[in-house]
Amino acid sequence: MNIVPVDLGENSYNIFIARDLEKKLVEFCNKAHFSHRGIIITDTNVGPLYGDRLKKIVNDSGITVEAFQIPAGEGSKKLVFFEKIITRCIEMGLDRRSPMFALGGGVVGDIAGFAAASYMRGVPFIQVPTSLLAQVDSSVGGKVAVNHPLGKNLIGAFYQPQAVFMNLDWLKTLPEREIYTGLGEIIKYGIIYDKNFFSYLEDNSESILSLNNEAVEYITSRSCEIKAAVVGSDEREAGLRAILNFGHTMGHSVEKNTGYARYNHGEAVAIGMICAAYISMELGLIGENVFTRVESLIKKFHLPIKAEDCDVESLYSAIFHDKKTVDGRVKWILIDGDIGQVTIKDNVPEEVVRKAMKYCI
Ligand SMILES: NC(=O)c1ccc[n+]([C@@H]2O[C@H](COP(=O)([O-])OP(=O)(O)OC[C@H]3O[C@@H](n4cnc5c(N)ncnc54)[C@H](O)[C@@H]3O)[C@@H](O)[C@H]2O)c1
Ligand SMILES: [Zn+2]
Repeated sequence: MNIVPVDLGENSYNIFIARDLEKKLVEFCNKAHFSHRGIIITDTNVGPLYGDRLKKIVNDSGITVEAFQIPAGEGSKKLVFFEKIITRCIEMGLDRRSPMFALGGGVVGDIAGFAAASYMRGVPFIQVPTSLLAQVDSSVGGKVAVNHPLGKNLIGAFYQPQAVFMNLDWLKTLPEREIYTGLGEIIKYGIIYDKNFFSYLEDNSESILSLNNEAVEYITSRSCEIKAAVVGSDEREAGLRAILNFGHTMGHSVEKNTGYARYNHGEAVAIGMICAAYISMELGLIGENVFTRVESLIKKFHLPIKAEDCDVESLYSAIFHDKKTVDGRVKWILIDGDIGQVTIKDNVPEEVVRKAMKYCI
């Protein structure tokens, strides 16, 4: 088992990464002094696969839990389902020490986390991420949210889990496309933080794509370490944490311009990373060789490199409506010198951005 600590002062917690977590999870619940009733939030894909297993583990620690399912998919990450979760908690008579477990991908983690943050002003929250994206990204760091019809993740909070438990064997049932999606964020960690990790991804793409145990253990652990290090130094995104948004400025724009339907998040971010790398090259921050490495690795992991059905005009105008844009200044996270180093610039000339966008469609 790998244990990655997330160091956030009194909000610190551990990420447990393994293939058999039962003992550790029971031990954790026993130590935590939870109430003896709790709830598991899951979705209609993951619930039938792993709901009973998690229920049994939690029951074994003396906590009676019920699994509450929401329909699988981004469409469930909204206030009506948030309210349904809260209603169920009230009906079950859950109290302030009742644990809430999120069993599923990022959608479940985000909505359950927001419910846990809000129910009785906060109940213990435990993440059990089952998609690769959730394991390496959304379950770590404490951002929880639901979507508003006018935009993604606009209603939310910072609320850290008390622990994250991930069973890597559970990735075996994850659809291939969702594996690629998670790999998008994993490539990002190499680019923003760790040149050697990026090289590892280049050199071991086949074992990674075939979900070789050792490779999956390494890439999930290293990704969690990097996210933990960045979040640990800037929990509420006052500075460094912004580098996690590498590829996301254009990524969000692509998602928005394709109605959140054509591409899933990691795919849009892949296109966004190429855009950011292109801008870096145009500004002379990196040479063409670095740009090519980024583009090639994205291709190798079966991620899209061009945004279909998009035009520069709409892509360009959408970046000004991004949550991260303040006072009309778009903050671009760019590669600085080489893979593993980034810089943030809010004065990239419009023509450079447009040229990069044109390249990406
Ligand atoms: N909070 C954060 O910091 C953060 C970071 C990145 C993304 N997100 C959010 O995460 C969401 C995307 O997460 P996601 O990509 O995990 O999507 P998701 O939760 O929709 O999961 C993808 C699909 O895989 C299924 N699934 C999950 N685990 C499975 C398994 N082991 N076996 C079979 N099927 C499985 C799900 O039911 C779903 O159909 C978005 O809403 C995004 O905004 C949040
Ligand atoms: Zn992301």
